[in-house]
Amino acid sequence: MDLAKVDAIIEEHNSDVTALLAIMQDVQEMENYLPREAVERIAVKLNIPISKIYSMATFYESFHLEPRGKHICKVCVGTACHVRGATRILEQIERDLEILSGETTADGQFTIEEVNCVGACALGPLVIIDKDYHGNMTPASMSKVLKKVTQSEEGGK
Ligand code: FES
Repeated sequence: MDLAKVDAIIEEHNSDVTALLAIMQDVQEMENYLPREAVERIAVKLNIPISKIYSMATFYESFHLEPRGKHICKVCVGTACHVRGATRILEQIERDLEILSGETTADGQFTIEEVNCVGACALGPLVIIDKDYHGNMTPASMSKVLKKVTQSEEGGK
């Protein structure tokens, strides 16, 4: 990973140890997880023990310490989405991406995650890919959405 970008994030926060959480969030936003090299760099730059960063990362569930895909495919499995067929949508995604929930594709493009109600029940079944909400999904429309994301990725190469 590009440690210069981690340095830039730390500098944006004036190397302020009280901004540790924000620094960690910004690094995760960039990489989709907290790489070990980044954690080590933050520790050195802020002059704090690595263990402090790891204990914060494990305390806040939103941090990920294992590599995740470039695109995070979050399937809502809350009650309303479940009733509206979230399981079928999740199975379709697993089939299309050839991985199971919680896994990352071998090319590092997608990770499937299950989330609980995100407060948009009227849109169920709901899938959030990166920051885009895809509501009222059917297995067929889900496949189309995934294809679109894959194609835009290929077009962007
Ligand atoms: S249950 Fe899925 S958004 Fe509420």
